[in-house]
Amino acid sequence: MSEAEAEYFSKDFDWDDLRNDVESDPSLRHHLLPFPPPAAAPAPPPPPDVAAAWGGFHARHHTGKFFKERRYLLKEFPELVSRGKKNPRVLEVGCGNGSTVLPILRGNEDVVVYACDCSGEALEYAKEMLDASNVASIERRFYPFLCDFALHGFPMWLACGPCRETSLRQHCCSSGEEKVELPLRGFDMSQDSSCLGGVDFITLIFTLSAIPFQTMPKALAECFCVLKPGGLLLFRDYGLYDMTMLRFESGKRVGFREYMRSDATRSYFFSLEIVRDLFVCAGFIELELEYCCIKSLNRRSGKSMCRVWVHGKFQKPE
Ligand SMILES: C[S@@+](CC[C@H](N)C(=O)[O-])C[C@H]1O[C@@H](n2cnc3c(N)ncnc32)[C@H](O)[C@@H]1O
Repeated sequence: MSEAEAEYFSKDFDWDDLRNDVESDPSLRHHLLPFPPPAAAPAPPPPPDVAAAWGGFHARHHTGKFFKERRYLLKEFPELVSRGKKNPRVLEVGCGNGSTVLPILRGNEDVVVYACDCSGEALEYAKEMLDASNVASIERRFYPFLCDFALHGFPMWLACGPCRETSLRQHCCSSGEEKVELPLRGFDMSQDSSCLGGVDFITLIFTLSAIPFQTMPKALAECFCVLKPGGLLLFRDYGLYDMTMLRFESGKRVGFREYMRSDATRSYFFSLEIVRDLFVCAGFIELELEYCCIKSLNRRSGKSMCRVWVHGKFQKPE
């Protein structure tokens, strides 16, 4: 099995065993403390310019070596390439350099992908990557656009006011683990211009973790609004106690299970309960939700690393 294949299929260990190890390890205690910690803590850094932070990240990491086409995405989410729907529309949110867009376009020649990112640099690299690929009719099937979905929501041409009406119902729930606010609407309801009528699929692949936790309910409400009834939101992101979380020093904490890297990009690490709360509160039906736990070997140090991702599939009610 190749490394990429393992990334999508292995269940090398039980997540509860990892949780027991982490929660009983005194050297990792700082990850478990409430935020802000009870002891005096330095003031959190001012909110950074997210687009600039990600722009810098993409400028540093846009080489072919860094770019990894997510080939096994289609094994996780085969509905993206199933021939059931005629000309399905996909919205890839936070497309980065196109790692998720490319396999979707390759896998189904009928699919049209709308791809947004808050970083203009990311969109440029995605276009370069797609242009250099041998995918057919890119110009008619790939529409990149600049958009900070957490801050401004999605443009009205994706789904106009009446198309979004179905998402006005509000949902209330809570697992009690953390307070999740009800979704808010962040766009002008009076506008009624012509639009695409929404999309059949949304892919949210390692993007939700990049936005501040308190903005997630509103961001997911936006996703709900632009999805057609019956449409699917396909989710993959960092899981609680993933190796990358445990590597953050305590000074990098900017919230509970939330960290900021030195380049001002941020990352949240999800428990299944929090993912469930966020999506159900936004109005979605849970179809699949689980941890993917894989052991990978650090070639340099020879150490085994525990990776944890959350895989989820959610549907907008018909
Ligand atoms: C870790 S990358 C994931 C890229 C891609 N989805 C993939 O599968 O490789 C996260 C992306 O989200 C983008 N991003 C972060 N916050 C965003 C926001 N509020 N609105 C739109 N894009 C955002 C970043 O620029 C970055 O390209």
